[in-house]
Amino acid sequence: MKRPLAYIAGTGHAVPKQVVTNADIAAMGVDTNDQWIIERTGIRQRHIAKHGETLASLSAEASRQAMARAGVQAGEIDVIILGTATPDHLLPSTAVEIQTLLGCTRAAAFDVAAACSGWLYAAIVGESLIASGSADTVLVIGAEMLSTIVDWTDRNTCILFADGAGATVLRRSRDRTAAKGVLSSFMRSDGALTELLWRPAGGAAEPFSPEVFEQKRQYVRMAGREVFKHAVRSMAEATDRALDAAKITAADVDLLIPHQANVRIIEATAKHAGISMDKVFVNVDRFGNTSAASIPIALNDAVEQGRVREGTTVLFAAFGAGFTWGSLVARF
Ligand SMILES: CC(C)(COP(=O)(O)OP(=O)(O)OC[C@H]1O[C@@H](n2cnc3c(N)ncnc32)[C@H](O)[C@@H]1OP(=O)(O)O)[C@@H](O)C(=O)NCCC(=O)NCCS
Repeated sequence: MKRPLAYIAGTGHAVPKQVVTNADIAAMGVDTNDQWIIERTGIRQRHIAKHGETLASLSAEASRQAMARAGVQAGEIDVIILGTATPDHLLPSTAVEIQTLLGCTRAAAFDVAAACSGWLYAAIVGESLIASGSADTVLVIGAEMLSTIVDWTDRNTCILFADGAGATVLRRSRDRTAAKGVLSSFMRSDGALTELLWRPAGGAAEPFSPEVFEQKRQYVRMAGREVFKHAVRSMAEATDRALDAAKITAADVDLLIPHQANVRIIEATAKHAGISMDKVFVNVDRFGNTSAASIPIALNDAVEQGRVREGTTVLFAAFGAGFTWGSLVARF
């Protein structure tokens, strides 16, 4: 096992005030029902932004909490990395807007696009910047406003996706004998299957136009069953690879915090890894699939519930559009 160079010093999360239940979605005229959604996904409710709540404002709120818990001042942040698929603006990055809201005047700030693996990819980049000596303190955020890119008449997608932000502060380990910190990580992508989960228009290849809006090509499209299969396979690979790299086994893991896509994908991942469900953190029932935000929201939720404490070994695993997938083992 490598000596950890960086550790997660603080966590925070923020979600929109508005709660939308499964019954609320059915009441909007979507042909679905509470029982179907719970059985197929495990989701009972989600938070959806209203006017005034932006990706940057939620991210800043989550970040302030994480920085306070880490005991870090705005001026100490060297780099801000935001994982997101739903930036507030296409230009510039939302990370620079967050920087301004937080007053992190000496930080470099940028976004990472890796869909639901966004926080995980951003955390690995942050750890690498610390390992290379480029940074000591990195604010790593995962945040989404998926409600803005979902077709609210498409029952395949609108029941799943939601809004929220999660933040973590990564710091250089000063104690050379410290056992806490990032023990291993793994990341992988496969762009051959992009069209199974994507947003066809709105980018440079197909800018917004009347035809785009008419055909609803600005919204997320998903082949649910195919995505499900790939998610289970990739999450399984991800858990194996991070455990191998950390030279630990599933028995050493105190808590698995997987991407909160769907409770059935989470159960399949846990089963493959040989981790019992009492050691798996699930909050998809309350937050839905918040993509890049789901792991840092779940981590902060787990911290607040006392399920992540000093000494806890956590295995994180993510999967998302791209496809992208990855994993990380950290001891707290
Ligand atoms: C989307 C998902 C929940 C659908 O579940 P599924 O078991 O694959 O369901 P299917 O698409 O096969 O549909 C089964 C039936 O339910 C119906 N159905 C689909 N969506 C429905 C909804 N929201 N409400 C009610 N019925 C629905 C279908 O029309 C179908 O009916 P039929 O049997 O009469 O044809 C599931 O495929 C999934 O979780 N995929 C992964 C999605 C994901 O996690 N994406 C993000 C990855 S980061």
